Amino acid sequence: MRKLLLLLGISAAALTGAALAQGANTLPIWAYPVTDKAFPAPDPAQARHLPGSKVSFTRAGVNDRFNAPDWYPDSHAKMPDVVAHGRKPGVFACGYCHLPNGQGRPENASLAGQPAAYIVQQVADMRTGRRKSSSDKMGSINAMMAVAKASNDAEVKIAAEYFSRLKYGKWIRVVEADRVPKTAVGDRNMMNVLPGPKEAIGKRILEVPVNLERTEWRDSKSGFIAYVPKGSIARGKALVESGAGAFPCAACHGPDYKGNGAVPALAGRSPAQIVRQLYDFKAGTRNGPGAAMMKPEVANMTDDMRVDIAAYLASLNP
Ligand code: HEC
Ligand code: HEC
Repeated sequence: MRKLLLLLGISAAALTGAALAQGANTLPIWAYPVTDKAFPAPDPAQARHLPGSKVSFTRAGVNDRFNAPDWYPDSHAKMPDVVAHGRKPGVFACGYCHLPNGQGRPENASLAGQPAAYIVQQVADMRTGRRKSSSDKMGSINAMMAVAKASNDAEVKIAAEYFSRLKYGKWIRVVEADRVPKTAVGDRNMMNVLPGPKEAIGKRILEVPVNLERTEWRDSKSGFIAYVPKGSIARGKALVESGAGAFPCAACHGPDYKGNGAVPALAGRSPAQIVRQLYDFKAGTRNGPGAAMMKPEVANMTDDMRVDIAAYLASLNP
């Protein structure tokens, strides 16, 4: 970190000094979706084809965490074993949750195109407990923490090299709206659209599958719509460019927010994931060595600012 700060001409003293002020920090349910509702288990033998895919899977097949369902094997490099299958008993296949093409989903994270060193560091932080979540209720995140603890350095390095070479593609459409479909937390920490009249968006981001059924079959090409409040993209742009009271985000994340050295890319990534991380940095639950650089950035960040910043960053082309 010191090296990066030197490169940027930023003094460590300036960083700690800026990290004092406070702002509202209320856990947003739409970014950490959980429900107690039980969902009926689908027929495990039911089989499905997807448009543009030559393969078919059963429900049991797409729900096998040691066999990432790969609908489009020709559209990415060959997955290494740990990404495709993981290792029994505790290492679920990385590609199961993060998808074979690394696009990730709102309840986890996109890994495609992220720096390999960054991926390795994050899993190491989760293993040592320096990176936790502000919610201990999200099944997806708890499973990631368990995978981090069960995996070893060699496996993570191989997975990191695979994901970092993939190109992250735009598949989240950001839509500003005053009124949005009603939503509820569905199965597996996924926000679902409900039928019926629309409701006011308030200060929320609702990231929902374009096609819930295809997402439930873990289709790695069927993306998401993120409804964001009117005006949030422009407000977010101003905050990101000014640095929201600290350093401009581009100083470390690169001029187009596409990543820089070991600093992760933000452009076009899931706004739910971005809000969770900004929240976790501020709450101090994400506290690995790299988090020190983010602390002054989030020190004065309010709930509303996080919504605006995530709306803008997610709207950019990756
Ligand atoms: C059971 C699902 C699941 C599996 C399997 C899984 N992950 Fe994750 N992963 C997650 C979730 C959920 C998050 C988001 C954590 C959060 O938001 O705090 C995550 C986050 C990450 C991050 C942080 C990304 C970022 O930019 O913040 C990395 C790196 C990562 N996973 C790597 C891996 C690797 C490598 C493997 C395989 C060894 C793996 N994951 C397997 C669910 C999973
Ligand atoms: C001084 C350098 C620096 C600046 C300025 C900076 N960041 Fe970061 N950012 C980092 C580093 C380093 C990480 C990785 C943190 C870690 O290792 O846990 C990071 C991580 C993040 C993440 C988590 C990404 C993920 O996939 O999990 C988000 C979101 C983020 N930054 C947003 C911002 C925003 C928004 C701004 C501007 C308001 C900003 N950053 C300014 C250095 C910086």
